[in-house]
Amino acid sequence: MREPLIEVREVKKLYPLRRDFLGRVKEWLSALNGVSLSVYPGECLGVIGESGCGKSTLGKIILDLERPEEGKVLFRGKELRKLKGRDYKEYRKSVQAVFQNPQSSLNPRMRAWELVVEGLKINYALSKGELLSRAEELLKLVNLPVEVLNKYPHQLSGGQKQRIAIARALALKPEVIVADEPTSALDVSVQAQIVNLFLELQEKFNLSYLFISHSLPVVEAISDRVIVMYKGYVVEEGKNEEVFTEFAHPYTKLLISSVPGSSVSFKETREQEIKKAQGCPFYGRCPYRKRECLSYDMKPFKLSDTHKVACLLVAS
Ligand SMILES: Nc1ncnc2c1ncn2[C@@H]1O[C@H](COP(=O)(O)OP(=O)(O)OP(=O)(O)O)[C@@H](O)[C@H]1O
Ligand SMILES: [Mg+2]
Repeated sequence: MREPLIEVREVKKLYPLRRDFLGRVKEWLSALNGVSLSVYPGECLGVIGESGCGKSTLGKIILDLERPEEGKVLFRGKELRKLKGRDYKEYRKSVQAVFQNPQSSLNPRMRAWELVVEGLKINYALSKGELLSRAEELLKLVNLPVEVLNKYPHQLSGGQKQRIAIARALALKPEVIVADEPTSALDVSVQAQIVNLFLELQEKFNLSYLFISHSLPVVEAISDRVIVMYKGYVVEEGKNEEVFTEFAHPYTKLLISSVPGSSVSFKETREQEIKKAQGCPFYGRCPYRKRECLSYDMKPFKLSDTHKVACLLVAS
């Protein structure tokens, strides 16, 4: 069995939801409720689920931008919290991010070449000439012409800016890229080009991706395996076809079969909200719910070596 590059074990993350006048937290929001997953070398793990289900929180925890209250993240089998000095630096280089909006992640006062080699400049003592030639190589990797080197972000299109963000992420030769909605701010035609670029780079460098997206076609096109999240739980996990065609969780079914725009079925009444205060978080919206679901601990069941589903329907 291959060793996972990244492993997330039983991670729980709370955010303060409401404070009193002294600033004391009165109510907490559970953004992640015991999430576990593995990312293997060279694979793309897609993450889907509606807004607020915890996708970005998961990405931030893997990037060490947020700390979980419980559980742990392992990098090459070593606990992230315990990595020190050179090992931590190695992890920071190996795990890079690409976010949704290149507009806000790129400093408007820096030229394209400075943007792509910023990380190199910080980590290595390189001359301007060396940085420039590395920038040129990086732009080539993301299929941008050399003319772009001296341009500022506002002189570039959305797709070009996202290519710059990807080149920046590649500069330190990472093994894993956490891509959080990297195509969501782009036109549909440009989205396809960026997905193709991700696929090209994955093959070239044997990269692993944690690929978060609202767009199911994009996730289906790029992912080897997929996890489906609902209210901070992973409700289904499997190989691409196990999730997109052989799905077994009622929420996955709803997500995949719902026509874009007809989000009526996603609304939950206050009564349903209260009912599912314990047990399965999907109880209030589930057409197949049973009494037992109210006390279900969300421990997943295995349908195959790779396919896991957190639903009592599949228990028998
Ligand atoms: N810094 C924060 N402080 C308080 N609550 C937060 C914070 N970040 C996220 N949350 C809450 O945690 C939950 C999960 O948020 P998260 O951003 O991970 O969702 P998401 O799945 O990425 O959603 P989207 O698809 O809209 O990007 C949401 O209810 C969100 O409001
Ligand atoms: Mg998000």
